[in-house]
Amino acid sequence: MLVLGIETSCDESGVALYDSDRGLLGHTLHSQAAMHEEYGGVVPELASRDHVRRVLPLTELLLKRCGQRIEDITGRKAGIDCIDAVAYTRGPGLAGALLVGAAIANGLAFALGKPVIGVHHLEGHLLSPLLADPKPEFPFIALLVSGGHSQIMRVCGVGAYETLGDTLDDAAGEAFDKSAKLLGLGYPGGPALAKLAAGGDEHRFALPRPLINSGDLDFSFSGLKTAVRTLIEKQADDVRRGDAAAQERDRSDIAASQQVRAEIAAQHQSRSDTAASQRIRADIAAGKQTRSDIAAAVQAAIVDVLVAKSVAAVQMTGVRELVVAGGVGANQRLRELLRQQAQRNDFRVYYPPLEFCTDNGAMIALAGALRLRDGELQKSAGALRLRAMREGEIRSPAGALRLGANGDRPAPVEAPYSFTVAPRWNLASLTPVTP
Ligand code: KG4
Ligand code: ZN
Repeated sequence: MLVLGIETSCDESGVALYDSDRGLLGHTLHSQAAMHEEYGGVVPELASRDHVRRVLPLTELLLKRCGQRIEDITGRKAGIDCIDAVAYTRGPGLAGALLVGAAIANGLAFALGKPVIGVHHLEGHLLSPLLADPKPEFPFIALLVSGGHSQIMRVCGVGAYETLGDTLDDAAGEAFDKSAKLLGLGYPGGPALAKLAAGGDEHRFALPRPLINSGDLDFSFSGLKTAVRTLIEKQADDVRRGDAAAQERDRSDIAASQQVRAEIAAQHQSRSDTAASQRIRADIAAGKQTRSDIAAAVQAAIVDVLVAKSVAAVQMTGVRELVVAGGVGANQRLRELLRQQAQRNDFRVYYPPLEFCTDNGAMIALAGALRLRDGELQKSAGALRLRAMREGEIRSPAGALRLGANGDRPAPVEAPYSFTVAPRWNLASLTPVTP
């Protein structure tokens, strides 16, 4: 079964084709990061409008790229009509952004007479390590760390999710993003902060590891954000000097000082002025170092908590497979520490391929395919009935609306196409899919 997956929950438009037998055929993605950067975060209205522009061209590109494989599988000329079902992100996410994906998916499915399925975004993240090789076996523990969620789940099968730990306030990704903002870094903050942390000393500044010894698997990162703000205020002068914008101003100070030096040199006093410009350069270097040290301290604090809770989850449950999913799973420091812990405590860690850590269509197509494989396809049989009805093979049910003077019956809007989006949706409320 060939499933088209559409992801539009936040600031990435992603489309992918997943075949139940052959796996992922391909995916296309457009990140809106550059568009939102100047606002320092995602602007929901702009996000929705951009998804409108992107999804269909991305779908066309995908079909073109996968053309040969589609023909090999279906034995037909590659086209949108080769797909068997459409999966889209129903939630959680930005309401307007979700509506775009939902409307396009339902429109496409309606036109093709194919079933459509609304997928839980976090289920997509959770199952995304199944796109990797080797892949984890059920049951596994999942550390789900995205921009809006930090959760530890026990995953016994598709849809069989038990929440073992949750965040009481900010998510890990949010802690990265907000700390990055305090440091004057661009959006998205996580990767920018991780990059800055690379040259830093994580031991220079001490930051709290909230709830690390709480004995449960819950998280809380809002206190850390406050501690980061206080630390940055204390180091304000240094941080400012290390900041790129401040450097610009300081560079002009250096230029000014060079100008002065030229004048002073003319007065035979060049030595003391050279010292002044060297001092400014040294200040900038020290400021840069301070910023890196703060970033490293923030990253270490977040990662230490995530690692400690993951190890605790493995030990508490006895499940020895750990899956890390969601954008923060791309963090190299997190990966390195988990690798060490896995060796020490004899468990295995799985990640999705790096490109599928952050939002993408592949995970939605995959989750849709896994759900549609069995029961849900039956529930979507209404879609097929609808097509048969349009083609005159069966009569529309009583109560269908009449349309127009020519007496054409419009297709009744059946469950598969009367969609809602779910901007807030609890992952643990999903129903298991019978294997
Ligand atoms: O899963 P995702 O793409 O979107 C949501 O579903 O929220 O996750 C985005 C989050 C952002 O907070 C981003 O800063 C964070 O993942 N992130 C990272 C890294 N790459 C993305 N955080 C730390 N280190 C990274 N390398
Ligand atoms: Zn996500």
